[in-house]
Order: sequence, then structure tokens, then C-alpha cells
Amino acid sequence: MTKTLMSTVAALAISATAAMAEGETVGFAQIGSESGWRAAETTLTRQQAEDRGYQLQFSDAQQKQENQIAAIRSFVAQGVDAILLAPVVATGWDSVLEEAKEAEIPVVLLDRQVDSSDDLYLTAVGSNLVHEGEVAGQWLAETVGDKECRIVELQGTTGSSPAIDRKTGFENAIKGHDNLEIVRSQTGDFTRAQGKEVMESFLQAENGGKDICALYAHNDDMAVGAIQAIKEAGLKPGTDILVVSIDAVPDLFQAMAAGEANATVELTPNMAGPAFDALEAYWKDGTMPEKFIQTESKLYTQSDDPQGEYDRRKDLGY
Ligand code: AHR
Repeated sequence: MTKTLMSTVAALAISATAAMAEGETVGFAQIGSESGWRAAETTLTRQQAEDRGYQLQFSDAQQKQENQIAAIRSFVAQGVDAILLAPVVATGWDSVLEEAKEAEIPVVLLDRQVDSSDDLYLTAVGSNLVHEGEVAGQWLAETVGDKECRIVELQGTTGSSPAIDRKTGFENAIKGHDNLEIVRSQTGDFTRAQGKEVMESFLQAENGGKDICALYAHNDDMAVGAIQAIKEAGLKPGTDILVVSIDAVPDLFQAMAAGEANATVELTPNMAGPAFDALEAYWKDGTMPEKFIQTESKLYTQSDDPQGEYDRRKDLGY
């Protein structure tokens, strides 16, 4: 076959696959809108679905697992072609995932993991959540060196895989550094408001914040709330209290550009792109994707052009 003919055949095959997927109905059982990162994931999923010609049935579970379960049951009853699930917590999914499997509807997990058997879903798209915590912890260990450092930790939603794994990863990284100690740790539920509220109680309990060397927040939104609390307590976030968190949302880059945050680990909000690619291959000829499609976890610090990173992200739906 000539090169031109080969590329024509390839182009036809690609457009035939796209045409096959066009008009497919996808149900999206989203957690809610607890953070800027979550808002961006929703925006990008809607955009991706529109660009590919799918009908997206969107459900906002308002942070409640029972709402997500009800949404999945309704998608199954409608006979959608696939379901995206961002599971608010890790446990309690077996029955509903079995129902989707019996109905032969592929389920793709987005950004969080479940404790169920992996034959109950097609694939999971997300980062290595333990690694994210390790990257944050290594950055802090290197930054403080031998100095005594009392750390406060804002955990994500209790029972969610990022809260569990980011805690484990961070603890792994600081293990063996006797000068680093987590002195307080509490959930802020991944929200800015609770991040601020819990940080206020940490500051009060720790000599007005003077006994705190660093804050580790499981997401940027809680860090942004905590930064506000630190400023209201009369201290300088980023200097008096180091701030390291996860997500890489525009507001955190703005805080970094102002010297009020120190480091963040990126979690891409574009989970839908790889998820839809996997689904299209599956719809086309039953191709089974890898069980885990891993996204990158990049560390950003104040020396990585935070203003430029803010400008690049500010219109992306965060
Ligand atoms: O599951 C991903 C986490 O959920 C993000 O880090 C956080 O911002 C979100 O709410």
C-alpha cells in the first residue's frame, strides 16, 4: 500500500471510530463542587463530551455517597453506554457496581479509588495518590533540613482515597526525619471554608501559630482557606508557616506569587480525556484498557513562575 493510501485508510478508520462513539450517552456521577479542582474536572468533562458528540447526563451528588449510588442506578435504568464515577469515599460500592456490570455498562473511575474488586469497573484514571503525599513530604523535608519542624495537617474528606493515601505518602516521606513531627491533623473536607476553620483552631492551640513550622493540606482549597486564617492571626503564610498542598489550582499559584504559599503537587483535572479514549477503544472492538491509567504528579514551587502558571490556568474552569 502506498504511503498516501495508508494514511487515507488510517484517517478513515479514525473518523469511523469517532462516528461510532458519536451520540453515545455517558452518565457522570460527580461528587459535588467542594473545590476549585473539582469544578475544573466538571468543566473539562462537559467540554470533552461535547467535542466528542456524546450526550452527558450529569449528576451532582452534593458530597453524599447515597446520591452517587442513586445516580448510578438511574443511569443503569436509562441504559447509558458508560458511567463515569468520581467516588466520594472508597468503600460501599460493590452492590451498585455489580448492578452496572450485570447491565453490561462499563464504569470508569475518575480521580479516586474504590475498595471493590477491579473486575467491577473497566478502568480507573487518576494519579498515584500515595506518591503525591510523598512528593509533598520530600519537598518539606528537604526545605527544612535539620530544623525542628512542627507540622499541622489538613486532611481531605474522611474515608476518601486521596485523604487516606496522601496522608500515608506524606508520613512515608517524613519517616526517619526525627526533627519533623505532625502535631495536629484533622479533616477540612477538601473545602476552603473548613480549611480556614480548622486552621484557626490549630493556630489557637499552637501558641497563636508561633509553634507551627509548616502546614500540609491535602488540597489547595483548604490551603487557601488556611492562608487566610494565618494572615488573620497576624503571621506571614509562606514565611512564618510554610505551606505545601496538592492540586495546582490557579488560586494557589496566586498565593505562591505573593509569597504566601510554598509548594503544590499538580493533579490534572483532565481525567475525562483518557477515560473517553479508553471507552472509545472499548466500544469499538472490546479493547480492554489497563486497570489504572496514571496521570502525572509534578511539583511546583515559588521558583516555577507561579504568576505564569496562574495566567495559564485561570480560564480553565477552576
Ligand atoms: O480526588 C481529588 C481531590 O478531590 C482533589 O485533590 C480535591 O481538590 C478534590 O476535591
